[in-house]
Amino acid sequence: MIYRLIMTEHVPGDARLPQRKHLVTEIPGPVSRELLARRERAVARGVSNMLPVFVTDAGGGVIVDADGNSLIDFGSGIAVVSVGNAAPRVAARVAEQAARFTHTCFMVTPYEAYVEVCEELGRRTPGTYEKRSALFNSGAEAVENAVKIARHATGRQAVVAFDHAYHGRTNLTMALTAKNMPYKDKFGPFAGEIYRMPMAYPLRWPGGREACAAEALATVKGMIHAQVGEDNVAALIIEPIQGEGGFVVPPDGFLPGLAEFCREHGIVFIADEIQTGFCRTGDWFACEHEGVVPDMITTAKGIAGGLPLAGVTGRAEIMDSVHASGLGGTYGGNPVACAAALGAIETMAAEDLAGRARRISEIMLPRLHGLAEKYPAIADVRGRGAMLAIELTRPGTLDPDQATTAAVTRACHQAGLVTLTCGTYGNVIRFLPPLVIGEDLLDQGLSILEDAFAAI
Ligand SMILES: Cc1ncc(COP(=O)(O)O)c(C=O)c1O
Repeated sequence: MIYRLIMTEHVPGDARLPQRKHLVTEIPGPVSRELLARRERAVARGVSNMLPVFVTDAGGGVIVDADGNSLIDFGSGIAVVSVGNAAPRVAARVAEQAARFTHTCFMVTPYEAYVEVCEELGRRTPGTYEKRSALFNSGAEAVENAVKIARHATGRQAVVAFDHAYHGRTNLTMALTAKNMPYKDKFGPFAGEIYRMPMAYPLRWPGGREACAAEALATVKGMIHAQVGEDNVAALIIEPIQGEGGFVVPPDGFLPGLAEFCREHGIVFIADEIQTGFCRTGDWFACEHEGVVPDMITTAKGIAGGLPLAGVTGRAEIMDSVHASGLGGTYGGNPVACAAALGAIETMAAEDLAGRARRISEIMLPRLHGLAEKYPAIADVRGRGAMLAIELTRPGTLDPDQATTAAVTRACHQAGLVTLTCGTYGNVIRFLPPLVIGEDLLDQGLSILEDAFAAI
């Protein structure tokens, strides 16, 4: 009960904003529609919006739009504001840092906050070995650098990635990303020496869920041996729970098996924890669930409460194999972003946000399973912590049901709940609430989802 009080009444970031849903216009309202028209004349079409309400304020578990509507946030800006929007410790540190200095470039004249973030990364990421970190601006940039470093350290070129993977939108990361539309279509040619392997996707594994881990592992090993050659592989990169590809949770045994295979063959095992990291799945990092210790880990999103920051953390001997000046960038590890990260990490530790992620799953999973029992279009309920999803198919088949996915999502949006979709087939609705969301708001959001299913 004490926990419930904490969840509902002590929500970081909510001091300014009532933690409730309140709609005063249709969604989007007239002011947002006007801004949308302006947006269409000024902003490139390729940059799209999931829900075109223009935000004026956000905090805790709500987003306030330009028409005065308060929406419930089940998206966290795609798994970024885990500590809540404008979280007090983040906002205070950012303001303080911005008033002192905003940029010197760490490669020109360094500052302590960068070092402190790298120390935190070294302490918090799995593995007790000696580590080094480097900071960048975005997840894609972190992945690019992880691959650069792994190639440099091993003197090998091939990189193994997986079906349904998402690693970013830059040239190399597009090559690592699996899905063509919208991420890759006609944006090639792509970077070479990328080899794609089947993913252990329990719902869709041809041999069934039980056989999935062992069969997928054997297939991947066999394909690497036959098509690439273990000694040519610099790195294997995998999301411990796939994000954009559909919140695919590999069955127990798959990740440890891959890690062991990499160890045997001197392949750098890179865990892309850009979406799963920083308490989202109920541990600081999703790899911890099975005790997997990667050689390198990429982080971004949740690390800095909404400011652009990303990291590559890895074994000291791998990271330090790169010559001086081989890594960097003008803005990487910007002091304001580092201050935000220190505020976000402090919040996660002080508020036990990993515990809150586990509590969120305790509340959400029974409701999602209840929905699945009622609506046969829900073929799968999956995820961990506050990274949960439902996959929709035509009942009794694995045929993706994009139409129902889109209709439910639209109904949620119109009723004031921000939900996101994902998945290779566009048939997954995912839930990524801020970890500080109050239980009342969580309940309300789930009721909106249930109503949306009832209405279609
Ligand atoms: C697992 C994973 N890797 C990489 C990225 C790319 O990160 P960014 O959008 O910051 O470049 C994302 C973004 O969604 C992601 O989920």
